[in-house]
Amino acid sequence: MKKWSSSLGFILAAAGSAVGLANVWKFPYMAYENGGTFVLIYLLCLLVIGFPLLIGEMLVGKASGKGLFEAFGELGKPLWNNFGYLCILSGVLILGFYCVVGGWCFFYAGSYAMQGMGVAEVPGFGDYTGNGWQQILSTFAFVAVTIGVVMAGVMRGIEQMVRYLMPLLGILLLVFAGYATSKVGFSVVTDQLFTYNPDTLNGETVLKAVGHAFFSLSLGIGAMLVFASYLKEDNIVKAGLWVGVIDTAVALVACFVVIPMVLLIQKQGGQVDEGAGALFVAVPALLSDFAGGNWLNMLFFFLLSCAALTSSVSLFEVVASGLHSRLSPEGDPRKYNWIMGAFVMVLALITSLSVGANESISKLNLFTHFDDAVTLYLLPLGGLLIAIFVGWLMPESIIKQHFGKRAIYPVWRGIIRYVTPLAMGLILLQSFL
Ligand code: PHE
Repeated sequence: MKKWSSSLGFILAAAGSAVGLANVWKFPYMAYENGGTFVLIYLLCLLVIGFPLLIGEMLVGKASGKGLFEAFGELGKPLWNNFGYLCILSGVLILGFYCVVGGWCFFYAGSYAMQGMGVAEVPGFGDYTGNGWQQILSTFAFVAVTIGVVMAGVMRGIEQMVRYLMPLLGILLLVFAGYATSKVGFSVVTDQLFTYNPDTLNGETVLKAVGHAFFSLSLGIGAMLVFASYLKEDNIVKAGLWVGVIDTAVALVACFVVIPMVLLIQKQGGQVDEGAGALFVAVPALLSDFAGGNWLNMLFFFLLSCAALTSSVSLFEVVASGLHSRLSPEGDPRKYNWIMGAFVMVLALITSLSVGANESISKLNLFTHFDDAVTLYLLPLGGLLIAIFVGWLMPESIIKQHFGKRAIYPVWRGIIRYVTPLAMGLILLQSFL
């Protein structure tokens, strides 16, 4: 069986899956739209639901050494192997809209390079998403590259990509954040980000925060389970904490890039109406101050494309290998990559036309529906199931063996047994009422 070359390799790969568009593209505009209450609840959700579950999901993978459709059976509960179907459904739906946004990053990277060379102009975000051919082309490219990376065998590639390119993206974000924040003042941004307003505390805000915590940490979909099944050593707690901290740090820094620019553009009378477009408007606006702005834009969107790819590849691999092991473990795994690839390609292409390019498809609002279905319902449901399994069904002796002797064990155990399932159950229940 393939194993990670080091525990650092595992942390990098898991962080590579976690850090992606959810952090840089989605979190800032959600934080802007939903305000400080959302952000504070998000951070709380990470503590009481996200981190404990991240460790829980990794435990299932590590202790079983098996993938989506075998892990639970290996630990004595074969019926729970059906969890894999939920993961496949969530995975396909995520890829359906994720690849569209990945395509946007590709397009912006490519267009800024062309603008830098003086051969083309970069269209505004609204014009671009309204252009069917450009949408199709960008989405096609992103899905094709995702499939290509999976086909080429990802392990080493992902480790290397994350190791060298992601710190660079982190540094770029920090520099951008410093510059953007200096334009409006630090306290203006922190007020927007962290001011608690009890009036905006409602079930919907909580659900959005929990759902986003799952999406951002790649939780509730079996990705962390599969990653951890390749892990040699027992350092799940450390790995889980690292992944969580890196993921959260990137999301917060990205807010300091996007939010000041959105505030500034609005102050100057401009409109940043599309939530989903905030990043694609904010960063170019920020970099328009610089002579080499085109190239900086290109670099930024290139790095973000890589971050998106490490996430989409991990997702694709998890789903395709799950299908393979379920349907014909003896057969050629590549076949399932092709089948999955074809399916995701069609779905993502249709979704790419739903952000304005095609009137009837846009009316279906596929992009938003896929996003909501997964982040608000399917991932939290997956998380609830994992909490129940780890907290109540998985033998404690096995858990202890992989958790290691750590002082936080009783705290974690209490949370995963009582707090997480109860909180998740209530949140899900109220969302259906
Ligand atoms: N966490 C990834 C991101 O932030 C998205 C993702 C979700 C990847 C689920 C894999 C599984 O972009």
